[in-house]
Amino acid sequence: MTMTGTVAQPSDRFSLRDRRVLYTGAAGGLGNDTTREMLRDGAYVIALDNSRDNIRSLEANCGSEYRDRLRIVRQDLADEASLKQTLASLLDEGSFDIVINNAAIYPSKPFEDYTLEEHRAVQAVNVDAALICTAMALPAMRARKWGRIINVTSITYYGGWENLSPYVQSKGALTGLTRAWAREFGKWGITVNAISPGAFPTDAEKIHPNPEEYARFVLEHQAVKRRGIASDIASAICFLASDEAGFVTGQTINVDGGWVMK
Ligand SMILES: NC(=O)c1ccc[n+]([C@@H]2O[C@H](COP(=O)([O-])OP(=O)(O)OC[C@H]3O[C@@H](n4cnc5c(N)ncnc54)[C@H](O)[C@@H]3O)[C@@H](O)[C@H]2O)c1
Repeated sequence: MTMTGTVAQPSDRFSLRDRRVLYTGAAGGLGNDTTREMLRDGAYVIALDNSRDNIRSLEANCGSEYRDRLRIVRQDLADEASLKQTLASLLDEGSFDIVINNAAIYPSKPFEDYTLEEHRAVQAVNVDAALICTAMALPAMRARKWGRIINVTSITYYGGWENLSPYVQSKGALTGLTRAWAREFGKWGITVNAISPGAFPTDAEKIHPNPEEYARFVLEHQAVKRRGIASDIASAICFLASDEAGFVTGQTINVDGGWVMK
């Protein structure tokens, strides 16, 4: 896919020029700045999100500077039929070079209080939508012999947090899929990797009742003694999305200030 006529001059930091990116949950706390950085690196970003407020904030952040290369589609990722329809019509306009499976919901309560339906509702957004986006993007990537799939997981998968059973379940599934897809798709020039964020002060963190205490807890566990910022995630995603990362696949990169080291 080729897109030209950019308003802003993309940097040459990574080779994302004219890559068409499908990015779920792109309007969220981490997605917002990452979208901007991908646009800056020359990509065309299709953002799927269902939050009006977050979409407004993404529009404001990326604004007029990159308007010609940002497409925001308000879509509920849990609505399987409608998601497939939306993807089909986006694919009619052009294939995706890069898929970022990032959207997530993260309810928090003890395991005994979750119903099976609640577990399933989390998997629908955090995992099933990733399956659908990847499956629909795959044929064109395979035909072109180039593709990047990036799953956004979480260091909660390594243990250490209570009351997040369905969320951790979903991140475990994405971690497994990262490896399974990497093994299967490598022969077609498609890499599949995961970015595993540590603790970033976005909406995701509001599940913790005492912000100051939680910030202290975070800094105690990190090797790097500052809070993470969205551009820490953006840099890792832009690298994995680039040509330069073509020999990296099946990996999970923890972007967490050195909290988890494995
Ligand atoms: N922020 C952190 O500290 C942290 C830590 C570990 C992992 N992560 C992971 O990073 C990713 C991004 O997290 P974030 O901090 O930006 O969270 P966020 O809540 O700010 O962003 C998530 C986005 O997904 C969208 N979304 C949720 N459900 C949707 C649905 N049904 N349909 C369409 N869009 C939907 C939301 O509207 C939101 O814009 C997630 O996968 C999260 O699990 C974040």
